[in-house]
Amino acid sequence: MNHTIFFVSSLLVAFQVICSGTNHNITKDYENQIKRRRFQDLPPFKAPVIGPCVKHPENCNLSPILKAEIVSYRPAVETIVREVLDGESKGRAYKELGKFVDLFGARVSGSKALEDSIDYMLDQMKQNGLQNVHGEEVVVPHYVRGEERAELLTPRRKHLTLLGLDPSVGTPAQGIEADVLVVTSFEDLKAKAKQAKGKIIVFNQDWQGSYKTTAIYRIRGAIEAATVGGIATLIRSITDFSLNTPHTGGMTYEALIPEIPAACITVEDAELLYRLQESGEKLRISFKMSIYKLPATTSRNVFGEITGNEKPNELVGLSGHIDSWDVGQGALDDAGGTQISVEALYLLKRLGLTTHRTLQAILWTSEEAAAVGVGVADYVKRHDKELANFSAVFESDSGTFNATGLDFAGSEEAG
Ligand SMILES: *[C@@H]1O[C@H](CO)[C@@H](O)[C@H](O)[C@H]1NC(C)=O
Ligand SMILES: *[C@@H]1O[C@H](CO)[C@@H](O)[C@H](O)[C@H]1NC(C)=O
Ligand SMILES: *[C@@H]1O[C@H](CO)[C@@H](O)[C@H](O)[C@H]1NC(C)=O
Ligand SMILES: [Zn+2]
Repeated sequence: MNHTIFFVSSLLVAFQVICSGTNHNITKDYENQIKRRRFQDLPPFKAPVIGPCVKHPENCNLSPILKAEIVSYRPAVETIVREVLDGESKGRAYKELGKFVDLFGARVSGSKALEDSIDYMLDQMKQNGLQNVHGEEVVVPHYVRGEERAELLTPRRKHLTLLGLDPSVGTPAQGIEADVLVVTSFEDLKAKAKQAKGKIIVFNQDWQGSYKTTAIYRIRGAIEAATVGGIATLIRSITDFSLNTPHTGGMTYEALIPEIPAACITVEDAELLYRLQESGEKLRISFKMSIYKLPATTSRNVFGEITGNEKPNELVGLSGHIDSWDVGQGALDDAGGTQISVEALYLLKRLGLTTHRTLQAILWTSEEAAAVGVGVADYVKRHDKELANFSAVFESDSGTFNATGLDFAGSEEAG
């Protein structure tokens, strides 16, 4: 059976990596996300989308000159909004996204589908009149999911639907068979630490109200389980809606703490295991997961731009990641983000609007499986001298539904 998943990954990872230039640390990224403040809510999408500073300039701590400049863009903004909502461009981005996803499906790091989809986007950028369209080669991991299975043995036999996490280690070749401890939180695990040794730790955490606040169980589950002597961990998938649907995603290990195998099981199975344990049953599970290490391959970060007519050396980036996980088609994670990045530029081209600064669409490669942010990390290393050219970078990786606001990371002054 094919279990389709959506993994909405770390919003703004690319941006944070650009800003910090440090080595990637998924736990830290996650903490930064939580800390990141909501910059401002956008007005309802149906009205011309003009920021609060235009509607209520008195509330904005900007110079009068800047305020006047912002107000002067009103006609251009209204033209854009009219074209998108009622003009010939209406529905275009969505239709193009659908076509892209149907043509290429999953685009996991190292796959031919990913490279084919990159060729397609390069071609589309040229056809739509962008300038300086090019790919920049990056060495990326080649991710192939191995064999993954788990079965409840006691008190009855039941197949457990699961997906391994990345970069989890595998189990020994013959698999693991062990007793089980189900916990509902990290606190619950600490309270039951004495019972954890040698067991498979199952996390049956409730949905914590949002993806961001719940995902910490997937990200740190293996660390917390191993800390109290667990030998493997099965974590309830990070979702508030399930039809026996397992989700994959990134996880992390910490130095000096044993690296134990980690996978996500479904909400239904996590709840079942919890109920069985609470009614006094002794649980036993067998779990087997193999990991393939394939040689690295070459992929590309993709660029296309509208060169600025006044300050061509100053850049505004619009970006998303073109790769996806292997078990879904990455329609929203993150073909949606890449599509809106290029469509914004195509739209300006069609309307004949020009910009002071250079607008650059960037489609990052290899953000997801088999390492996080490989494409963007390569870019940062290669272009460290040019990072200062960016006036702003937009990165979309949390779904392209109705616009509800902007999350912002950066200095107070930049904010
Ligand atoms: C990653 O960041 C977390 C939180 O800031 C920190 O506790 C951890 O030690 C870091 N891990 C590594 C490998 O640097
Ligand atoms: C998105 O916005 C449109 C236009 O305002 C509205 O009709 C629609 O209901 C909104 N959809 C969601 C999911 O909020
Ligand atoms: C960045 O700015 C420098 C100095 O203005 C310029 O020489 C360089 O071409 C710029 N790079 C890009 C990619 O625009
Ligand atoms: Zn993503």
